[in-house]
Amino acid sequence: MHITVIGSGYVGTTIAACFADLGHEVTAIDIDEEIVNTLNDGRAPITEPGLDDLLETHAGDRLTATTSYDAVPDSDVTFLAIGTPSNNDGSIDLSALEAAAEATGDALANKTDRHLVVIKSTVTPPSIPATLEPAIHSGANENDAIEVGMNPEFLREGSAVTDFQQPDKLVFGTQSEWATERLHNVFEPLLEHHDAPVVETDPETASMIKYANNAFLASKISLVNDLGNICKEFDLDAYEVMDAIGLDDRISERFLRSGVGWGGSCFPKDVNAIIAAAQAVDYDPAVLEGTVEVNDRQPNRMLECLMSHVNPEDARIAVLGLAFKPNTDDIRNSRAIPVIDALQSRGANVAAYDPVAADEMSHKFPDIEYAESAADALEGADGALVVTDWDEFSELDEEFDAMATPVVVDGRRCIERRNGIIYEGLTW
Ligand code: UGA
Repeated sequence: MHITVIGSGYVGTTIAACFADLGHEVTAIDIDEEIVNTLNDGRAPITEPGLDDLLETHAGDRLTATTSYDAVPDSDVTFLAIGTPSNNDGSIDLSALEAAAEATGDALANKTDRHLVVIKSTVTPPSIPATLEPAIHSGANENDAIEVGMNPEFLREGSAVTDFQQPDKLVFGTQSEWATERLHNVFEPLLEHHDAPVVETDPETASMIKYANNAFLASKISLVNDLGNICKEFDLDAYEVMDAIGLDDRISERFLRSGVGWGGSCFPKDVNAIIAAAQAVDYDPAVLEGTVEVNDRQPNRMLECLMSHVNPEDARIAVLGLAFKPNTDDIRNSRAIPVIDALQSRGANVAAYDPVAADEMSHKFPDIEYAESAADALEGADGALVVTDWDEFSELDEEFDAMATPVVVDGRRCIERRNGIIYEGLTW
C-alpha cells in the first residue's frame, strides 16, 4: 500500500519507519524542512532505539519525506500524527492538528476514489465530530469520498519500535466496513508475525480507549503511591505489599512501582485533557483529579524525607536523574522539575546529574550545577535525591562516602540500603 503520514514527531516518525518496514511505500509529510532532510538522510529526528536502523534501511527507498501534501491523493490511506499539546486549563490545543487536517482535506478535494484519513494523534472523543471531521471535510470541499477514522497508538518512549511491532492490541475506530478492511490491509503484514487482538469500533470510542488506557495506568501508579505513602507512615515497605497484591491476576504485577510519580509527554497531558473534557460536559471526575493530586504530592514528600535529616538552605543537594524515565533524554513533565523547584525555593544549591538529559534540563534550569557523573554530584553533598531509575545508580556504592552528610532519599527504589548512608525510601 502507499501510506502518507502527516507529522514527523515521536509517533509519526515511528509509524512511518515501521510501516515502511512492513513493506508499505510511505511518504512522511512535515512542515519542518530540517526534519524532512534528516529523515531523507536516513536519520531519526528523535532518539529511539532501533529507529535509526529502520530509517537507514528504508529512507530513499520505501520511505520518502517531503514538505508537500502532493502525495496525499495518490496514497491509499493518510495518518494524521500531529501533536496535541496542553492548554493552560489542561484541555488539548488542536490548532496544529486542525490545520493539518484541513490541508489534508484540501489535498483530497478532487479525489474520486474513496480515501481514509486516520487520526493517530491523541484527541478527546468530542473533538472528532466537532473539530477534526469538519476541518477535513471543509478542506476537501465536502468531497464525500473521504472517510475519517481513528487508530490510537499505545507505544512507549524507549521501546516505541518494538511496541509498534508487538502490540498488545490494535484499535480500529471506523465508520464503515470498507474503512475497517483498509486498516486490516495496513496492519496485515504485522499481524502475520505477531498475533494481537483487533478491537473494531467507532472513532470516538477508539479515542476514549486511548484516554482510558493512559488514565487507568496513571491512576494505578497514583493509587500505589497513595497506598505507599500510608505504608511509609506506618514504617512498612510498600514494595513488599505490592509484590503480594500483584499476585492477584485481576491486579497484575505491572505498574506497581511506587515513588516520586509519573511524568512524560503522555500521562500528565492525557489525564488533564480527559479531566478538562469531562468538566466541559459538567462531569467532575473525582478519581482522576485525585490521580493528579497524589502525583503532584510526591516530589514534596521527597523533600520532607530529606528535611527530616538535613536543612536544605545553603546545602549542596545532589539530584540524580533528570529524564522522566530511564533510557530517554526526554524531560517533559519529569518529576525532577518540581523536585529542583522545591529545592531552589528552600535555598539549596543543586548539583544535578543525568547520563543524557542534562543538556535538555539546562534550558529549564540554567543556574544549577550539572555534574559530569553521579560521583561528582555526590562529592561534598549534604543530601542526594534519586529521581530517575537509571541502571547506573544501582551500582553506586563508595561514591556515597564522598558526601558531606550521606543522606540518600530514593524516589525510585534503585539504591541498596547500605552501611554508612542514611537511607530513606519514599514509600518504604
Ligand atoms: C505511556 C504509556 O505507557 C504508553 O502505553 C502510551 O502509548 C504512552 O504513554 C503515550 O500515550 O504515548 P510513556 O509515557 O512512554 O508511555 O512512559 P511509561 O513507561 O508508561 O512511564 C510513564 C511514567 O510512569 C514514568 O515517569 C515512569 O517512571 C512512571 N512509572 C511507571 C511509575 O512511576 N511506576 C510504574 O510502576 C511505572
